[in-house]
Amino acid sequence: MIIFNEVTKDFKTDFWEKPFRALDKLSFELKQGNIVGFLGANGAGKTTGIKTLLKFIKPTSGSIDYHQVLGKNDREVFKNIGYLPERPYFYPDLTGRELLTYVGQINSIQKSVIKSESLKWSEFLKIDFALDRKLRFYSKGMLQRIGFVSALIKNPKLLILDEPLAGLDPMGRKEFKDAMNILVKEGKTIFFSSHILNDVEEVSKDVVILKTGKLIYSGNVLELIKNKSSNKFDLLVEPYNSELLSDFESIEQGGFKKISIEEDQLQEMLNRLASNNIKIENIRRQTPSLEDIIYRIGI
Ligand SMILES: Nc1ncnc2c1ncn2[C@@H]1O[C@H](COP(=O)(O)OP(=O)(O)O)[C@@H](O)[C@H]1O
Ligand SMILES: [Mg+2]
Repeated sequence: MIIFNEVTKDFKTDFWEKPFRALDKLSFELKQGNIVGFLGANGAGKTTGIKTLLKFIKPTSGSIDYHQVLGKNDREVFKNIGYLPERPYFYPDLTGRELLTYVGQINSIQKSVIKSESLKWSEFLKIDFALDRKLRFYSKGMLQRIGFVSALIKNPKLLILDEPLAGLDPMGRKEFKDAMNILVKEGKTIFFSSHILNDVEEVSKDVVILKTGKLIYSGNVLELIKNKSSNKFDLLVEPYNSELLSDFESIEQGGFKKISIEEDQLQEMLNRLASNNIKIENIRRQTPSLEDIIYRIGI
C-alpha cells in the first residue's frame, strides 16, 4: 500500500550544531490487509516516520509512494487513511459526540452516516456510554478510545495508530487488539507503532523495526523468531528420584522438574525418561520472545 524509499529526515537543532538525523535512509513496504507493528525504543523515529507518511513533515531526502488503491491524488489518498496520534489533543469543551460530528463534517461525510458510524464504532470500542460527556472529563484511556473512533468515522482503508496501546490497562489493550483483528478481517490495513513488544507479537503478522532512525528488520514476525530459536529444548517432567538423571541440570518449576538440554541429547533423554517411567508434562524448543530478540539477542 505504501512504500518508503530511502527516507531520511534531518531536524535542524541549534544554528551552530549539525542537524539531527531522525530517519536514516528508511526503506520498507507496507502490504495491504495486514496488521503491521512499527517497533523501536523511544526516540527511534517511529512518530517521525508516521508524520512523514502523513505528509505533516517533509523528508530531507527520499520519497514515499502511495499505491493507487488508496487514491489517485493526495486528497483521495488521505481520505483513505485514518490516524490516531500519539498524544491526541481534542478541544476539551466538546462532547465525544460533538467531536465525532466535527471530524465527520470536515471529512464531508453525510450527517446520517456520521450518526450511524459514530454509534457503531463507539459501541465497538466501548465508549458509547460517555458520548455526551465533555472531553475534559475523559480519562487517558477514554480519549484513546474516542480518538480511535474518530479515526474510523471515514471508513479508511489504512489505519495509522501511533502508540495506541500506551496508556491503556490490560483489559483496554486486549479490547484494542481484538478491535484491530476484527478491522483487518474486514479488509483494512493497520500500521501501528508500539514499544510494548509482547502486544505486538500477539497481533502483528509483520513488523518494521527501527533503531536510531535505521531499519533493522522488516518482515514476518514468526520467521524472525524462528530464525532466532535455539537448539535447546525445555522438558517439564514429574518429580523423580534425583540420582536417576543427576548428569542433567534441572530446576524445580511449579511442582515439576524442568530440564534444559541440547537437541542432540533429546532422544537419549526421552528413552531414559520412558525406561524409568517418568511422565513428561511438556516439551518445547526454547524460543525467544520479540523482546528478547530486539533488546538482548539482536537481529
Ligand atoms: N521537531 C523535531 N525537532 C528536533 N528533533 C526532533 C523533532 N521531532 C523528533 N525529534 C527527535 O527525533 C528522534 C525521533 O523521535 P520520534 O520520531 O518521536 O521517536 P519515537 O516515536 O520512535 O519515540 C528523537 O530523538 C526526537 O527527539
Ligand atoms: Mg513516538
